[in-house]
Amino acid sequence: MTTDLDQLRTDLLGSIEAATALDAIEAVRVSTLGKQGSVTGLLKTLGGMSPEERQQTGPRIHALREAVSEALGARKASLEAEALNAKLASETLDMTLPVDGVPAGSVHPVSQVMDELAEIFADLGFAVATGPEIEDDWHNFSALNIPETHPARAMHDTFYLAGDHATPMVLRTHTSPVQIRAMKAAGGNKPVRIIAPGRTYRSDSDATHTPMFHQVEGLVIDKGITLGHLKWTLETFLKAFFERDDIVLRLRPSYFPFTEPSAEVDIGFTVINGKRVIGGDPTKGEGGWMEVLGSGMVHSKVIEAGGFDPNEWQGFAFGCGIDRLAMLKYGMDDLRAFFDGDLRWLKHYGFSALDVPTLSGGVGA
Ligand code: PHE
Repeated sequence: MTTDLDQLRTDLLGSIEAATALDAIEAVRVSTLGKQGSVTGLLKTLGGMSPEERQQTGPRIHALREAVSEALGARKASLEAEALNAKLASETLDMTLPVDGVPAGSVHPVSQVMDELAEIFADLGFAVATGPEIEDDWHNFSALNIPETHPARAMHDTFYLAGDHATPMVLRTHTSPVQIRAMKAAGGNKPVRIIAPGRTYRSDSDATHTPMFHQVEGLVIDKGITLGHLKWTLETFLKAFFERDDIVLRLRPSYFPFTEPSAEVDIGFTVINGKRVIGGDPTKGEGGWMEVLGSGMVHSKVIEAGGFDPNEWQGFAFGCGIDRLAMLKYGMDDLRAFFDGDLRWLKHYGFSALDVPTLSGGVGA
């Protein structure tokens, strides 16, 4: 029995050592420690032994089982480590390879122009103000001297919001309601100098109109403000925006309920190689004028609605289509493409997010 057990131990440990694959290890485990295994069989013989014999042989059989089990575990671990090392050696990863191009987003021309406007007007001392796109009828119309019966309401194809509101709600048809909000916020006793860029809505759609579009409002309220301040501000703004000194403006008498007097502002263009270019002498060759914004001196009723005393405070205001400014500056011709979300269009007309606005020096640089 002694020599048998020693021999068996040598044989088993030898075959475990000789196993070169995990399934070979498993086969040895089943044939030794499995239900029908040789070592399991030896353990079963203990029951039929005399106590002396069991005392003698028992520990040796248990030791054998222990040794086999340990050898199996160790061999299995070393085979697994070998397999992992082989896998690691064959699956190299070159960390120096350049990454596949990460698609970079781009800044939409409307966002770019808004940034440019904020920068130009910041240099002139204007803060950026905002207001809600869902606006109440009072801010959008009445406070701007457009009473309910006023025909000017028909000028705006307004989206009215259904529902049980204390006051009728609309999608703001222009950024002018922010004039009222900015005046109210100033409390009627200190100057206001703001621009208000943002989304506006009218029920209209063709190549130059979309139901949602962007405007920028400008408002100055102070003492002793004249039409001269308006004209200088617009000239300075448009020269900085189009990055040309030879910009000419024409103020055409017009009508807006919230300004008096009111003026539509045309910008001069020239034609170079069949293309319209902003700037130059519009009276020469094929040059001409195109309308870019509406403006005027703030109506006394509007100053009052904003909480200021019109006998002491005056002001000017203007409103300008941002999308149209972008089209004129960057040469797009279909407004609808602005809002299609076509990535090819954005790739072509978009701006790098890493660039600051092109007018890094701003006005007077
Ligand atoms: N709110 C006017 C529009 O949308 C533009 C405007 C603003 C005109 C301020 C005069 C003064 O057409």
